[in-house]
Formats: sequence, C-alpha cells, structure tokens
Amino acid sequence: MTAAPDRDVVDLLSADHREFDRLFRELEALSGRTGADDLRRKRELVDEVTIGIVRHAVAEETQVYPRVEAEVDREEAERSKHEHGEAEVTMKRLERMDPGDPAFDGEVATLAREIRGHVEHEEGRMFAELRRTFAPDQLAQMAGDVERVKAIAPTRAHPLTPNEAGVRTVLGPVASLLDHLRDAVSGRGRPS
Ligand SMILES: [Fe+2]
Ligand SMILES: [Fe+2]
Repeated sequence: MTAAPDRDVVDLLSADHREFDRLFRELEALSGRTGADDLRRKRELVDEVTIGIVRHAVAEETQVYPRVEAEVDREEAERSKHEHGEAEVTMKRLERMDPGDPAFDGEVATLAREIRGHVEHEEGRMFAELRRTFAPDQLAQMAGDVERVKAIAPTRAHPLTPNEAGVRTVLGPVASLLDHLRDAVSGRGRPS
C-alpha cells in the first residue's frame, strides 16, 4: 500500500468522462425517436451533459491546464483548450435547438464525437503526463482544486421553462454559465 489518496485529479476527471459517455449513450438510444417523452428526455439529457461538460471544462482550464502548460506540455494544453472551444460552439447551437428539430440528433452526434475525441487525447497523453510529472500529493491537491471550481457552478441547467425557444435564444445556459463561472473563478466577476 502507498500513502496515495483515493482519488487524485486524474481519477476525478476520468470519472467525469465516463459519466459524459453514459449520458451520450442514453442520447444515442433515443436518436430518431420523436414521442413527447423521448423529446423531453433528450432535452434533459442534453442539458445535463452540457452542464457537466461546462463545469468540467472550466475546472480543467483554470486548475489543470495552466499547470500542464507551465510544467508538462504547452502544446497539449493549447490543443485541449481549442477542443473545448469547438465543443462549446456545438453546445451553444444545441441549447437553442428544439429536440423536435430534425437536425437535433445530428448535433448531439457531433457533440458526442467531439467530446469522445477530446477525452481520448486527454486520457491518452495529458493524464499520463500529469501522473509522470506531479507527486501523488500534488495530484490530490489538484483534485481538491477541481472540486472547488465545480462546486461554484450550479448542477442544474437553468430555471428556464423547458423548450421555451425564445428564452433560450436570448440567454442560453451555456453562454451565461460559462461567462459566470470563468469570471467567478478568475475573480473578474463583479462583486455581488
Ligand atoms: Fe476532461
Ligand atoms: Fe478537457
């Protein structure tokens, strides 16, 4: 036995990745279905995976990538941020889209592909480098830092009425949550 903590930052972020995959698989099983319950469930699942990805991505960008950039692999951190940006664009399209829109399932498939590709890069390279570079106690501390950032973000999408397309267009949860969270974490936010 070692004195290593139960869950370091790699365990924590990997567990999030598995959860995203579970949600995408449930969405994939609903692809092509148009019943009222199916559409409602698609909306719920897309909102849930979006919120999960946003919290995860902001935590990575503020607590993990800067350390990767400084001490491990600058290129890898840059690529990861770029991949987050691509997924963000897809999530913003999806949040404004009605699940009954014929293009909805295709956008879900795009997001699933982007996230799975990104996860493959992180787990295949960055996470291995993190474990090689940092001591177990540093990795455990990073896990705590990631948890703290995730705790700032709401775990539910938004108080909007589901499928109120007009409201979603004006103030989508992804856009507002991202801005809010990035400001809060970086201290740029207005004092409340
Ligand atoms: Fe990740
Ligand atoms: Fe990431």
